[in-house]
Amino acid sequence: MRIGVLTSGGDCPGLNAVIRSVVHRAVVDHGDEVIGFHDGWKGLLECDYRKLDLDAVGGILARGGTILGSSRVQPAHLVGGVERAKGHVADLGLDAIIPIGGEGTLKAANLLSEAGIPIVGVPKTIDNDIASTDVTFGFDTAVTVATEALDRLKTTAESHQRVLVVEVMGRHTGWIALHSGMAAGAHAVVVPERPFDMDELTARVGERFEAGKRFAIVVVAEGAKPREGSMDFKTAGTDIYGHERFTGIANQLSVELERRLNKEARPVILGHVQRGGTPTAYDRVLATRFGWHAVEAAHRGEFGMLTALRGTDITMVPLAQAVETLKTVPADRYEEAECVL
Ligand code: F6P
Repeated sequence: MRIGVLTSGGDCPGLNAVIRSVVHRAVVDHGDEVIGFHDGWKGLLECDYRKLDLDAVGGILARGGTILGSSRVQPAHLVGGVERAKGHVADLGLDAIIPIGGEGTLKAANLLSEAGIPIVGVPKTIDNDIASTDVTFGFDTAVTVATEALDRLKTTAESHQRVLVVEVMGRHTGWIALHSGMAAGAHAVVVPERPFDMDELTARVGERFEAGKRFAIVVVAEGAKPREGSMDFKTAGTDIYGHERFTGIANQLSVELERRLNKEARPVILGHVQRGGTPTAYDRVLATRFGWHAVEAAHRGEFGMLTALRGTDITMVPLAQAVETLKTVPADRYEEAECVL
């Protein structure tokens, strides 16, 4: 078999572990040939690739980022992109493409699959918002990084009697905010799934100070927004891909909390540090299992499918189903957390 692999969209700790696993299973166990496209779908559209053998994937298991590079280019963004991708798959004699990506990448994968390209997808995102899998690799690493940061921030917040508003990633969902906030014992968690009421949030933080506490930590997901009319709030338009730009919610919230509480407040934006560096052991194992199962699915001819974790098992889920909806934080998970914040 000849297999093409690519990593697309925002990078994520564990991508290299998938690539390595695909090469080991395909080349060593099946005698396949594997090529890696550079910079996501862009590499497939421009026929820009390299051969991946055991040497090429040596020593990459613990490395963050992706040895293949990534981009947000998608076939559907370019005129004739889907046809071009199809043509290159045929010209290169590829029997399967394994794209590793998040929401946008999997939508593109589904489109190409419907156009007849043999695809087995692998889900990735630190945001953990792909509905068809219990967990995505990268999430555990991001939560670990954010938790460590929150632990550190508590000591400086306490020294200065401040409110620290800590912004974590999560464009549409608050999984990182919820888990890191719970793990670090934050005092409020604000997620995109529940527009927050500024009066309620102010009261919650204010009560801590009234109770004699010296500091407060508010964790906010970057996509969170206030309930309409609850505070003066500025949106920031869209980026060059048409995605909604982040509003700088931590900045806006800290200014508002400082004004309302008459307490020093500072924004802290963790940003891409949550995506960088070495994956945790959990993420390495999950990524490795996904790679193995993607190759097996390709050999069974199970195309138009996605690897997914259900409980402790890896299963295959139709791509079309996987891209239907995002996995948001359910109300009961939020309530569980609220009781200990
Ligand atoms: O989808 C993963 C993610 O990390 C989001 O949480 C975040 O909004 C986005 O990527 C930022 O991506 P970039 O700045 O790299 O375009």
